Amino acid sequence: MAFREYKIGARLFGVALGGSMIITLYLPTIDMTSVAATETSLRKQLSYGRIGGFSYEDPFLLGEGKPKTVVLTEDPVTGQQIETVEAYVYEPGIPFAGGINHPRVLGDGITDLSLEKGRISEADISAGAVFVVSRGSYQGETVNYIENVTATRGWKPEKVLSVAGDANTSYVGSGKIMFVKEGCWWCHTLLPEQTQDWQYFGVPPRLGDFNGESPTAFGSDRKAPDLLHVGSRNSSKEWMMMHFFNPRLVQPHSIMPRYDYMWGEKDASGNTIDFDAWGAAYNEYAKGESLYPPEVPEYAPNSQIRYLMDFILSLK
Ligand code: HEC
Repeated sequence: MAFREYKIGARLFGVALGGSMIITLYLPTIDMTSVAATETSLRKQLSYGRIGGFSYEDPFLLGEGKPKTVVLTEDPVTGQQIETVEAYVYEPGIPFAGGINHPRVLGDGITDLSLEKGRISEADISAGAVFVVSRGSYQGETVNYIENVTATRGWKPEKVLSVAGDANTSYVGSGKIMFVKEGCWWCHTLLPEQTQDWQYFGVPPRLGDFNGESPTAFGSDRKAPDLLHVGSRNSSKEWMMMHFFNPRLVQPHSIMPRYDYMWGEKDASGNTIDFDAWGAAYNEYAKGESLYPPEVPEYAPNSQIRYLMDFILSLK
């Protein structure tokens, strides 16, 4: 009996050793860059810009040196109505996303089409460029690729921004910097898991969703809801504003900190925000001495909270 046990043990040991040798020696030889970029990753990298951490362009994490995301319903050159398109505007001097600088990270087919039909290698940082995600056919399959519309359709950054207007422009890239800088990832994840998470937080990401994104901001461990698809379950700007100004306005026992300082000094009409008066009125309300909480100030168009809101609401 003891002898038979020994034989089974030896076989298992052999399999385990063999298996671990395969993991050690074989897996690292798989070429990770062969994971093609998904449409999500193309849109993410184009809207976030080159990098989202400490960098030469933005040493103090103020959201500088980032592209802008616009929604267009007319062609900025001809003025004709077009099907609604999301475009990523890199004004002169703004560093390009990873996939533009290193097209090979995009993956087979996508790299080829982006270079040949999308003409991404013609994009010039000093002149700026505008990109969109287009669909084309590669070896009989439909694939998404990056199109440099400044080269292919003559869309110039300045013109695109003026046609879109502030209402159709979002600071998604700068907002991701706010997310990193404020440490939202300390409590929140951007990574629903392959568990019951699906039912509430939505579909987990795929490996190809991260091509060209840096950093990924998955989160550390989760103390609060996953935010990868938060914009799909709650797209209310008013709710988000109140929640960021003081989470207790909408969730009485929330442990989330206030981010009212991200409003800056002035509100949307240029008036100085009186945080002390606001806090006093809020305390009265919290004690039950007044019926309604004070109104949350409308934020200025170039405030840090605008960047953060644009990022959070882009997480669909
Ligand atoms: C101390 C932990 C903590 C930090 C830091 C934190 N949050 Fe939260 N957050 C929470 C908790 C807990 C909730 C759920 C209760 C609530 O809604 O307030 C929440 C809720 C949210 C929601 C609503 C989620 C939903 O499912 O509707 C959003 C959006 C959000 N937080 C964004 C942020 C952003 C952006 C930051 C960084 C600027 C941040 N949070 C920082 C703890 C945190």
